[in-house]
Amino acid sequence: MGEGGEGRGTIAAMSTETTGTAARDGEAGRSGTGGSLFVRACWREPGAHAPVWFMRQAGRSLPEYREIRKNVGMLESCRRPELVAEITLQPVRRHGVDAAILFSDIVVPVAAAGVELDIVAGTGPVVAEPVRTAADVERIRPITRDDVSCVDEAVRLLVAELGDTPLIGFAGAPFTLASYLVEGGPSRTHAKTKALMYGDPELWHALCARLAEVTLAFLRVQVDAGVSAVQLFDSWAGALSEADYRRYVLPHSARVLAGLADAGVPRIHFGVGTAELLPAMGEAGADVVGVDWRTPLDVASRRIGADKAVQGNLDPCVLFAPWPVVEAEVRRILAEGRATPGHVFNLGHGVLPETDPDVLTRVVALVHEVSARPGE
Ligand code: CP3
Repeated sequence: MGEGGEGRGTIAAMSTETTGTAARDGEAGRSGTGGSLFVRACWREPGAHAPVWFMRQAGRSLPEYREIRKNVGMLESCRRPELVAEITLQPVRRHGVDAAILFSDIVVPVAAAGVELDIVAGTGPVVAEPVRTAADVERIRPITRDDVSCVDEAVRLLVAELGDTPLIGFAGAPFTLASYLVEGGPSRTHAKTKALMYGDPELWHALCARLAEVTLAFLRVQVDAGVSAVQLFDSWAGALSEADYRRYVLPHSARVLAGLADAGVPRIHFGVGTAELLPAMGEAGADVVGVDWRTPLDVASRRIGADKAVQGNLDPCVLFAPWPVVEAEVRRILAEGRATPGHVFNLGHGVLPETDPDVLTRVVALVHEVSARPGE
């Protein structure tokens, strides 16, 4: 893969025609990356070392990201394939991570479905008219490839450019998306969301069913364009009890994950504060369950079951500690990960914008060094 400006030039120069053919059936991307350490670990197969990538690795911790985003709004940047490709590649070049994650946002398909919204820097997604009624739910249209053709194109560009490095596609899960739509923006308590869920279960299920369709279609487009794995982000599911999660959320996330069962790519399911939900999140149909820093990986894996790999779980705040502390935590997590059927090293949640990117680069090298298994 090209370095710095060279890579950017390559992408900008590529026409849709040349990139489209290679990955059109989705197989081109998979065949090159199916043997990668990342995909193998997701399938619980041993590899030469533990794979590592970071949630939100493409973003504000990188000066080159801040530079390229200077005059482009967040949603607008998600809609420009060449820019998406460049931003996605930045952390791969810089850190040498074992997987790229598509630069996009969980609300991109919701906007494509006709919901009027924006992503406000420092706040997050803000919805013009929060969902309150059945008519509001009806206005969320099912999406087709044409509605997200820019994402389709970005994935194809990236698969061609990344070569052996796998690309992770992603989407927001119905509960987390519903929270933004009902609250109108980020919420600490999810009070309006829960009021709708408990007060009008029929409307709640209609909303989540519609969001599950949008999410599934969005992930299908990414799989068909050649992503090597998908991650379903249910970041705010930890706000629920296990009983409520099973009743109000699990069937809808399960619908999304079951819809990808024949896709042949690992399905990662992630949430924050989900210690009590880990078995249920695995049951929803994941191949890999993401774990935050509150639960040691070996404990989490016993809860999730031996038929799934785990991903995580360094506290993103540990990256602000002196290096010996970071190193000890990485070593602890790798040791706990070795006691699981498969481990993908990651943070327990996304990279914080203030993080020193050089620390992330050192973490990647340390993970590779400490987890090396000669001969595999
Ligand atoms: O490297 C990557 O992980 C890929 C990029 C990515 C973004 N959003 C880019 C982004 C991913 C995977 C997401 C998913 C996402 N978006 C989630 C699930 C993951 C999680 O963190 O729990 C959620 C809940 C959202 C909603 C959202 N969008 C939030 C909470 C924010 C942050 C608001 C802020 O400014 O602090 C956004 C905006 C956003 N999405 C940014 C980025 C890089 C920051 C905006 C910017 O750079 O201007």
